[in-house]
Amino acid sequence: MATVLAVLLLSVLSCGKAEEKTKLMNGIVNGTVDLEPGIPILERYQQIKWFYNHTQQILKKQKGKSVHYNNEYFKNKTKLFENGTLRIVRLRKEDSSKYKIIVEDEKGLEIPIMIQLNIYAPVPKPRLNVTSLKKTKGGCSVTLKCSVSIPDVTYTWYKDDKKCSYSELNGDLVLSLTSESNIMYNCTVCNSASCNTESIYYRGDCQWQGSV
Ligand SMILES: *[C@@H]1O[C@H](CO)[C@@H](O)[C@H](O)[C@H]1NC(C)=O
Ligand SMILES: *[C@@H]1O[C@H](CO)[C@@H](O)[C@H](O)[C@H]1NC(C)=O
Ligand SMILES: *[C@@H]1O[C@H](CO)[C@@H](O)[C@H](O)[C@H]1NC(C)=O
Ligand SMILES: *[C@@H]1O[C@H](CO)[C@@H](O)[C@H](O)[C@H]1NC(C)=O
Ligand SMILES: *[C@@H]1O[C@H](CO)[C@@H](O)[C@H](O)[C@H]1NC(C)=O
Ligand SMILES: *[C@@H]1O[C@H](CO)[C@@H](O)[C@H](O)[C@H]1NC(C)=O
Repeated sequence: MATVLAVLLLSVLSCGKAEEKTKLMNGIVNGTVDLEPGIPILERYQQIKWFYNHTQQILKKQKGKSVHYNNEYFKNKTKLFENGTLRIVRLRKEDSSKYKIIVEDEKGLEIPIMIQLNIYAPVPKPRLNVTSLKKTKGGCSVTLKCSVSIPDVTYTWYKDDKKCSYSELNGDLVLSLTSESNIMYNCTVCNSASCNTESIYYRGDCQWQGSV
């Protein structure tokens, strides 16, 4: 997924001139997203059309008339606002697509605007494990393992409220504590659409306590 995103981003950057510019937007499963044209269209539009998957028409609307849907699936889960914004509710992974709005002015001139929408699973509560626990002289050496059940996430550890620069990409935090006590460690896990955090407390003397 990360590679797909990177490739997409790259193609957006490198084809920005040849194609229309594409805006990237993220949503989470079961969430709501507003796809906005990004330009004021009210004054000049005669007709607007929304598409998905490049070419498949969702709806069209002529000025002063009601919305005409071409697609039953989207009819049930979108709402078109006067300013052209398309709201999509009850998002699913499959709603990830390249959306396009075409604004037609009174001269029949068409202005296309592209939006790449990517839907992600919300990040669940991370699991924290205390491993390689070793009592040292007055202190403690330990590896805190942070994990979630979904891919394509980044891990960030916090000691009290300071970011730990020594955490690993895989969510491991290797610690050699000496005489400290009463420290809160947080692991924050994020993907492109959401984050979630779990905490664990160090009481001193190699004693760890999860958040209950
Ligand atoms: C989305 O909503 C459906 C129905 O309410 C539920 O079964 C499902 O677990 C939800 N999924 C997520 C990722 O929240
Ligand atoms: C859009 O196309 C993709 C792949 O071509 C497909 O998986 C997806 O179901 C399509 N979306 C809708 C809403 O039909
Ligand atoms: C429209 O959405 C509602 C709520 O998710 C669902 O119960 C209903 O079956 C849908 N109707 C159609 C035609 O898809
Ligand atoms: C478009 O209209 C919707 C609903 O009134 C509003 O929430 C949104 O902020 C508007 N967008 C712009 C760009 O004005
Ligand atoms: C964390 O510990 C639980 C039980 O204490 C174990 O079932 C699980 O596999 C461990 N997870 C990791 C990532 O080590
Ligand atoms: C760490 O988690 C606690 C709740 O468990 C929260 O109150 C605190 O703001 C978090 N700190 C950071 C830096 O995320």
